[in-house]
Amino acid sequence: MISATKAQNSSNYPPGPKAHFLFGILPEYSRDPLGFTTNCAREYGDIVLWKGSLFKTYQLNHPDYIEEVLVKKSSQFGRHQTIQLLRRLWGDGIVGSDGESWQRQRRLMQPAFHRDRIFSYGEVMVNYTNRLLTTWDDGTIRDIHEDMMHLTLEIVAKTLFGAELATEVEKVATAMQVSIEYYEKRLNNLLFFLLPDWFPTAKNLRFLKAVRQFDELIYQIIQQQRASGKDTGDLLSMVLQVVDEDGKGMSDRQLRDQIMTLLIAGHETTALVLSWGCYLLSQHPEVEAKLLEELQTVLDGRTPTVADLPQLRYTDMVIMEVMRLYPPAWGMARTAIEDCEIAGYPIRAGDGVLMSQWVMHRDPRYFDQPEVFNPDRWAGDLLKKLPTYAYFPFGGGSRICLGKSFAMMEAVLLLATIAQKFHLTLVPNQEIVPWPAFTLRPKYGVKMLLSKR
Ligand code: HEM
Repeated sequence: MISATKAQNSSNYPPGPKAHFLFGILPEYSRDPLGFTTNCAREYGDIVLWKGSLFKTYQLNHPDYIEEVLVKKSSQFGRHQTIQLLRRLWGDGIVGSDGESWQRQRRLMQPAFHRDRIFSYGEVMVNYTNRLLTTWDDGTIRDIHEDMMHLTLEIVAKTLFGAELATEVEKVATAMQVSIEYYEKRLNNLLFFLLPDWFPTAKNLRFLKAVRQFDELIYQIIQQQRASGKDTGDLLSMVLQVVDEDGKGMSDRQLRDQIMTLLIAGHETTALVLSWGCYLLSQHPEVEAKLLEELQTVLDGRTPTVADLPQLRYTDMVIMEVMRLYPPAWGMARTAIEDCEIAGYPIRAGDGVLMSQWVMHRDPRYFDQPEVFNPDRWAGDLLKKLPTYAYFPFGGGSRICLGKSFAMMEAVLLLATIAQKFHLTLVPNQEIVPWPAFTLRPKYGVKMLLSKR
């Protein structure tokens, strides 16, 4: 495999695109973030400087450099400034926090994600999917992305917090959409980025309303659980029992931040894998046929369970390949908290680094015909042979996705359940556009025609 070449030149900065004196690379970047990052990698190499008026950012396009940031020098990097924008929504939950606060939260949540615990969620995942499928009528058209978002939200709420969201799901989904749009606008518009949150623009007001709606729902979940006083064994009842050295439990605000973070981190990403998966399968009948063959052999028409997972090898490969081409987390950013060096270049405290799954997963140095959807590429030992950070849909190092096993199990079970019962055809004359907001969404949804098998 290709190893990184250390910088030989005498310049203190790696090469990079020309930048506007005031706005830096923002105008070009915000026009097409995926195209811009891909072109930077192909044109300027393994480390690229993005000059900004406020910050310098280094785009890292080699697995060794990504490993330095996520693993070897992880103590020298912290959460990126852009994550601060999201704190307004998810407060001090695990995703946005650093240092001791992060460690405490990670330790606290870990047990809910142990293998045995996760296996016990399998039944809810399949039952909720079957419940959705009973509402699907043969010959009708649905936005699959919307359905998958609702389904995975209901699943994470039930498995981790014991909450039934069926009647609230629409409200939560709308609030989510408003928040994502808000984040995307602020990130890509310097003026909007600099405006304080309280400034009463229409977008800020819509966002604040969305946060209020979320809050109402979450406080309701907390109250129900506190009132019941039962230990139901889920994450919420575990967290409710935690007390610190002073004998104090978590406040409602702290609980709200944890729940909000997990509801967000725990549903949209998996919904995206399934939405992109349904889209790709509809464009590759040969892959769909192979998938059905496996489902027929292993399940023979019955509902899948966690015991079937080891046999559903091709289904698993389909999911891996979907996440290669359409990684839900399409890029990850960090800020240097002390001066350090990457690829022979000095990185100063305050500088940013961007590591993009979208770019790395389509790098021809690591993947043959990278643009082709080919689940069979994972049949041999490709994953073992690849440098770890050539394929990293779940991130890496100590902050690797806490829900990785939950998500893989959910994606395989849901895809197997859906594909067995329905054939999905993409409705013609619609644009399927990957939209790199916080996650990689289909910008206008994915409308599909349902045919019962
Ligand atoms: C296919 C689905 C998923 C993908 C691709 C994904 C991807 C990721 C990535 C890339 C990170 C690291 C972000 C960073 O380091 O900046 C992350 C973190 C996280 N994910 Fe996921 N995720 C998925 C599903 C889930 C699910 C289902 C849950 C929970 C039920 C979850 C919970 C979390 C949490 C709590 C973190 C923060 C971990 C920490 O900071 O210590 N994720 N995820």
